[in-house]
Amino acid sequence: MQIYFAPLQGITDGVFRKIHADHFPGVAKYFMPFISPTQNYNLTNKELREIDPGNLHVPAVPQIIASHPELFLWAANQLADLGYDEVNLNAGCPSGTVTAKGKGAGMLLSMTKLELFLDEVYGKCPIRVSIKTRLGWTSKDEYPRLVELLNQYPVSELIVHGRTRAQFYEGEADPGTVIDSLAMCRMPVVYNGDLFTPQMCKAFMDSNPQFHGVMVGRGLVANPALVRTVLSGEALTRAEMQQYHAAVYEGYMQVFPKSAVLGRMREIGKHLALCFEDAGKIVKKMRKASSLAAYDAAVCELFEHDIASDPGFRVSL
Ligand SMILES: Cc1cc2nc3c(=O)[nH]c(=O)nc-3n(C[C@H](O)[C@H](O)[C@H](O)COP(=O)(O)O)c2cc1C
Repeated sequence: MQIYFAPLQGITDGVFRKIHADHFPGVAKYFMPFISPTQNYNLTNKELREIDPGNLHVPAVPQIIASHPELFLWAANQLADLGYDEVNLNAGCPSGTVTAKGKGAGMLLSMTKLELFLDEVYGKCPIRVSIKTRLGWTSKDEYPRLVELLNQYPVSELIVHGRTRAQFYEGEADPGTVIDSLAMCRMPVVYNGDLFTPQMCKAFMDSNPQFHGVMVGRGLVANPALVRTVLSGEALTRAEMQQYHAAVYEGYMQVFPKSAVLGRMREIGKHLALCFEDAGKIVKKMRKASSLAAYDAAVCELFEHDIASDPGFRVSL
């Protein structure tokens, strides 16, 4: 079974992905945070940099968020010209500003509109199209109907996050609905949601071998060695965490101004800190650090702690 790195806007950019793959190989595919083609058929400079194959270095799948098939197809053709052979459709982003435009999880509001979109996209897209979605808009009862619709298309992989849009990231993900519907799915299915630690991930994979793979987001940002631990049992060490943290920091120093480095490192640091014993207070210090000096001080303190058993993401400390 494959393990994929979930796309996390603001975290898993090209710099991060390369350093992660250099230090902790084993992720089968990195899904890239979405690009959002504008009505004028444009991508931002940042998006163009991200999709430039020269900046890739790792197996990465670009993701498009769009409500109009012609915009999706325009961006997919750009990606095909750049040499990509797969593109992922974001049909799961729960953000209100996104769904108000009928994008992301907003696509789940009308099966009729979704069908028209998919007819066009699967009729004309020159490369494989996988889909990342949720159980439904308000209720998991919507999921079987969604699968019935998706079964009509050559969906290369279906990645399902085990929550509805109404749940955003609240409460617990529900793999049960995805597992119960597996038999009716014609396409390979990948499960995503709340597989936060190596043990959680391994337990899920061992009990559900019929999945094509799992996709892990927050758990892998927190514990960069999660895939290795799942596959070989070799646990994360404090020394490799220190080296990895230093490399990510240095990587961002090379491409961002210091103020942006602080923002990035606070976000990544507060995830990494969750892997340490009794790190609650330090996570708060990292989150509030108003300068790189304050961040550095919190990091020094953090590395005096031991790695927790089964390190990974925690909802709260
Ligand atoms: C900060 C943040 C940014 C995200 N950005 C994206 C994105 O660009 N595209 C996408 O499909 N999902 C995005 N997601 C959702 C994640 O890919 C993933 O589905 C979610 O974190 C649940 O997986 P996990 O429980 O393993 O973290 C984002 C989630 C977070 C928390």
